[in-house]
Amino acid sequence: MAILLPRSVLVVGSGGREHALVRSLLASPAKPRVVCSPGNAGIAQDVPCLAVAADDVAGLVTLARREKIEFVVVGPEVPLSLGLSDQLIAAGIPVYGPKADGARLEASKVFTKQILLKHGIPTASAGIFSAVAPALDYLKGKSAPIVIKADGLAAGKGVIVAQTMAEAEAAVRDMLAGNKFGTAGSQILIEDCLHGEETSLLVVVSGRDYVMLPVAQDHKRIGDGDTGPNTGGMGAYSPAEVVTPDLLERIEREIVRPSVNAIAAEGIDFRGTLFIGLMLTPAGPSVIEYNTRFGDPETQVVLPRLKTDLLALLWAAARGELGGMKLEIKSDYALCVVIAAKGYPDAYPKGDVINFPSASSLPPQAFIYHAGTAKNPAGQIITNGGRVLGVTALAPTLRAAADRAYAACGQIQCASKYFRRDIGARQLTRS
Ligand code: AMP
Ligand code: GLY
Repeated sequence: MAILLPRSVLVVGSGGREHALVRSLLASPAKPRVVCSPGNAGIAQDVPCLAVAADDVAGLVTLARREKIEFVVVGPEVPLSLGLSDQLIAAGIPVYGPKADGARLEASKVFTKQILLKHGIPTASAGIFSAVAPALDYLKGKSAPIVIKADGLAAGKGVIVAQTMAEAEAAVRDMLAGNKFGTAGSQILIEDCLHGEETSLLVVVSGRDYVMLPVAQDHKRIGDGDTGPNTGGMGAYSPAEVVTPDLLERIEREIVRPSVNAIAAEGIDFRGTLFIGLMLTPAGPSVIEYNTRFGDPETQVVLPRLKTDLLALLWAAARGELGGMKLEIKSDYALCVVIAAKGYPDAYPKGDVINFPSASSLPPQAFIYHAGTAKNPAGQIITNGGRVLGVTALAPTLRAAADRAYAACGQIQCASKYFRRDIGARQLTRS
């Protein structure tokens, strides 16, 4: 199929996900010019980084015009929910990433729950509240554990899996009366707790067409053995073999196809990534949430496994030409260990110098993706965020991928370096 591919691409964002997107787009046989805004110190080693912030919608549109960008790929959720894609489309610039109406599927958990329930897609049952008294009343008929969710975007912090009813009541009051998450918490969901293993399914969607990317598993807690507070994600691997081919077929039949159809039926022309967070419960797979962007760190293990040209895939989705596209996936396993700054997800230091191994001393098939990094005036790379690096390796077995990734982690020196030692353990101990 001869598709004319764009010659210049702007990637919006500054995390490990965006670094992985940049690397995969650079690897396209079409050899596009790739730029990133705002990027980070590692992305800047690969492509030019421009200084417009990811939430500066007008600035990004101006930048795309000035740089004669033919295609924009949006990483994070905030610009999507602010209407970046709407504005780019209005300016005649094709974009991968949904318009604000589609981004609502991540930006409003209430909106999504209503769609899931209306279309009979498996999900935990839930009540929706905007006042304390009825919410507390509803809790009287429930038992712990129970989940309290702020409606809006809260940087991954708006979900409390309460282990006691006292904790649940406190979360309700914090959100609805205490303004803990501002307007994001002015509506809440009180949701039954699902039990099982979580997996992440990234689906490239274009209207009613879709392509499922390989399943990944994230590690959300900060500590080994899934202990401590939730984070943005401390590591991932793919494929997640807990999803057998039969289970994947069921997930596609009961969840993916109905979700894509439901979104289209709601009048949303969704062109971007639908990231379906799944709980594999004893009763079957159930939707925990939708995100409307690539996952981080899931992207760092999914993209390196693609044989298919990422540029062609995302361009086809943006252009409404995804129908019939088939993915080619490497048989290799991928595993990513996130290096964070000690203290994350609470307070952590910034500005620590990072020393990297030379490219030739890294294990084979190991890649270092940058997230929270910057350069100091002396030109050294320093820590500049909670999640600092994503160290990914590919190998013929998950064990070998883990060994390679951890060997590379050991070669990186930084005073505040912290990482989990058990990424992949669930699958490694199962097999
Ligand atoms: P979310 O922001 O919706 O992804 O929620 C963050 C995390 O909270 C999820 O990754 C799950 O680990 C957990 N969670 C959310 N909803 C539920 C639920 N209904 N039952 C159990 N855990 C949940
Ligand atoms: N790793 C989970 C997320 O990107 O939301």
